[in-house]
Amino acid sequence: MAFTYSEKVMDHFANPRNVGEIENADGVGEVGNSKCGDIMKMYLKVDGNTISDVKFKTFGCGAAIATSSMATELIKGKTIDEALKLTNKAVMEALDGLPPVKVHCSVLAEEAIKSAVSDYYRKQGIDPEPIVGKIEEHEH
Ligand code: FES
Repeated sequence: MAFTYSEKVMDHFANPRNVGEIENADGVGEVGNSKCGDIMKMYLKVDGNTISDVKFKTFGCGAAIATSSMATELIKGKTIDEALKLTNKAVMEALDGLPPVKVHCSVLAEEAIKSAVSDYYRKQGIDPEPIVGKIEEHEH
């Protein structure tokens, strides 16, 4: 089956933004999809209530790389509340869509942000679950 990817997906796959790690990150999240085995790791730097920096590492398919790249662009400079409102749908729309079999890759991007924010709250001594909700996290 042939997929067509939008130009934006191809661009973010070929030139992903914000790749890497943040040393002494304020929040680190890691999520995975047990079906495809892909893993996404996200690092946040938080100043006050604002995400001043974000980086990611994705061991996964091209769509997972493109969605994590776009997700980091969409939350950089935003507040934590705004980042938590970012849905996988919004990430897909920003990329001009994904083939249906690749929707789960964008879900991973949404969950990676939530996982990193949860870790940030935990580090502050705050229980993240009432704020972020329950997410399936990978051990890291
Ligand atoms: Fe699993 Fe893309 S195929 S994240």
